[in-house]
Amino acid sequence: MKTIFVTGASSGIGKAAVKLFHSHGWKVIATMRSPEKETELSQLKNVTILPLDVTDVKQIKSTVEEAILLDKIDIVLNNAGYALFGAMEAFRDEQITRQINTNLLGTMRVTQAFIPYFREKKNGLFINITSIAGLVAYPFSHVYHATKWALEGWSESLSIELAPFNIGVKTISPSGTQSDFLTRSSDLVSHPVYDDAMQKMLGGFKFTNTAEQVAEIICEAATDDKDQLRYLAGESAKATYARRLEIGAEEFRKEITQTYLALQKR
Ligand SMILES: NC(=O)c1ccc[n+]([C@@H]2O[C@H](COP(=O)([O-])OP(=O)(O)OC[C@H]3O[C@@H](n4cnc5c(N)ncnc54)[C@H](OP(=O)(O)O)[C@@H]3O)[C@@H](O)[C@H]2O)c1
Repeated sequence: MKTIFVTGASSGIGKAAVKLFHSHGWKVIATMRSPEKETELSQLKNVTILPLDVTDVKQIKSTVEEAILLDKIDIVLNNAGYALFGAMEAFRDEQITRQINTNLLGTMRVTQAFIPYFREKKNGLFINITSIAGLVAYPFSHVYHATKWALEGWSESLSIELAPFNIGVKTISPSGTQSDFLTRSSDLVSHPVYDDAMQKMLGGFKFTNTAEQVAEIICEAATDDKDQLRYLAGESAKATYARRLEIGAEEFRKEITQTYLALQKR
């Protein structure tokens, strides 16, 4: 029986992944900031819930130590994250810091805590949830893009560095997915000059994937034994990335700019 360690398991993609792996007979260590609020996953046999805020360095250390003592861990799913949306000039420094601290540094720290363990047992796999926002860019999500682009590059580098130890690194890049992402979780910052344009831009984003569909791609990445870094999750993610590769980064940027300018005139 294999075991997966999941961050941000309280809702959306993380929770769907816990349920899918559990249904496939895996043991799951589901971590979340507020385990006391969890009522569904706590009922599942072979699912252990542990507390973890990925911005809390001490808690990462204690929770990872506890998890390793509990079970032989095969896969770490770095999923915890949220989006900061708004005009660059509207952000307070603490908003920028929290976004980077959660999405980027949180993933790095959890991974770092597991590397020696995977290295000593000579196998392991990190699956990092990035986003199509880690491969293309739109206005008003620049700091979110910064974290997700960083995760893509960092994951690629790490996959090479850890290859001699039989440790894999994979990224999952979903397009818009139904979850608490745009409602409860996002930090939407207002600015009178940009608000209209931002609402139009965000209103154009389609959230067509279900969290369960993304969980299926995570499961594929976890079990296909392929030496493949990047998995796009959702038709929109595939089409968007294919378009960027087809016309090149500069033309793609111009195309998004034209769409954005046209949107402003409406
Ligand atoms: N939904 C999309 O359209 C979409 C598209 C591409 C990528 N993604 C990525 O998918 C991942 C999961 O998002 P989701 O769509 O499933 O949204 P979600 O339903 O809002 O889930 C986000 C999860 O991250 C957790 N989280 C936030 N900050 C945390 C922290 N400091 N420490 C530990 N956990 C923390 C949340 O926990 P709490 O319950 O405690 O807040 C929640 O469990 C994120 O990395 C997101 O960037 C989402």
